[in-house]
Amino acid sequence: MPTAVAPEHVEIQLGDRSYPIVIGSDLLGDASSFAAVPAAATALIVSNTTVAPLYAAALQQALAGRYREVHLLELPDGEAHKDWQTLNLIFDALLQRGADRKTVLYALGGGVVGDMTGFAAASYMRGVPFVQVPTTLLAQVDSSVGGKTAINHPLGKNMIGAFYQPQLVLCDLATLASLPPRELSAGLAEVIKYGPIYDMGFLAWIEANIDALIARDPAALAHAVKRSCEIKAEVVGQDEREAGLRAILNFGHTFGHAIESGLGYGEWLHGEAVGCGMVMAAQLSLRLGGVDAAFVERLTALVRRAGLPVTGPALGADRYLELMRVDKKSEAGEIRFVVIDRPGSAAVRSAPDAMVREVLAQCCAA
Ligand code: NAD
Ligand code: GLY
Repeated sequence: MPTAVAPEHVEIQLGDRSYPIVIGSDLLGDASSFAAVPAAATALIVSNTTVAPLYAAALQQALAGRYREVHLLELPDGEAHKDWQTLNLIFDALLQRGADRKTVLYALGGGVVGDMTGFAAASYMRGVPFVQVPTTLLAQVDSSVGGKTAINHPLGKNMIGAFYQPQLVLCDLATLASLPPRELSAGLAEVIKYGPIYDMGFLAWIEANIDALIARDPAALAHAVKRSCEIKAEVVGQDEREAGLRAILNFGHTFGHAIESGLGYGEWLHGEAVGCGMVMAAQLSLRLGGVDAAFVERLTALVRRAGLPVTGPALGADRYLELMRVDKKSEAGEIRFVVIDRPGSAAVRSAPDAMVREVLAQCCAA
């Protein structure tokens, strides 16, 4: 993949917690990328057993001039390890190395590493600075931005966590060259999401460029990451702690989280579950009157072209409903869904169980 894309900046405006998202190629091995990160004696790079062998040496070298010591921790890889035991490995490493409250954590990896490192940064000594260096498309367009950090609980996805903003998000597009095709598709789910909820012009652009994105065309990827980050920055800038608007970013996630928890974490990728969940949420939006059948077909076709599943697993409607009640948007046991109330705009709504069952019957394998 050619890598000559000039860096772009998107600012996330949160008062004294504002920070830049820098998007470009070959950034993580360049010491100047980190010039604005607070000074400290030590840094800990948190990565995993897949990503560290690919990119940790370059990052360590780039950071060597800024810190007296740069340590590396390799976590086990996978959504199934996004739990207390793995989180505790970060605290073990920090304490064993005598990390102080200025120590900077660097999350080098996908959303799993990013979410866990962010949560560790939020809690270690009640908060140390951290930097996101996302290496999956999904993490570059969504999870590294906006300060949601979490681990899973066996009873619910991302149920234990904190809002905690990084100092910098550095999206090095060159890292996407080594991403397995299935992971690239998973990331496209979160890119597609921004269209129906916020920007129909972007949806049309994705439709026109989906083949280029799958082929990892650098200019197409750069635009997809930048526009996604711009939209996310606009939403988070208005509603950092999800009092209202930010919930729209969870389009497809209520169904998707049920798929992930119901099958066991890691069976379907998060992005796959979100892709299929968006098809289900679009079907629900149709029944609630926000969109027409042509819109649902259009979104379903794009999700399919992105290489994502559009038919949900046969968990059974009762189990789906049970799982969806364990959702952060639920109130007093009532499931609340992000639905499209008109193309390019989303809202949070409840729906009668019978309607949800109809959607599940239509969208899931028998
Ligand atoms: P992931 O972190 O599991 O990464 C996917 C796989 O790709 C892993 O095996 C990883 O080791 C590997 N990988 C990462 N970068 C690579 C590279 N450059 N080359 C080769 N392999 C690479 O999954 P993900 O899709 O990045 O993130 C999903 C997670 O993000 C979920 O836990 C989800 O809940 C979370 N998430 C959080 C937010 C948020 O706002 N915090 C938003 C969306 C998703
Ligand atoms: N990914 C949803 C959010 O950041 O709010």
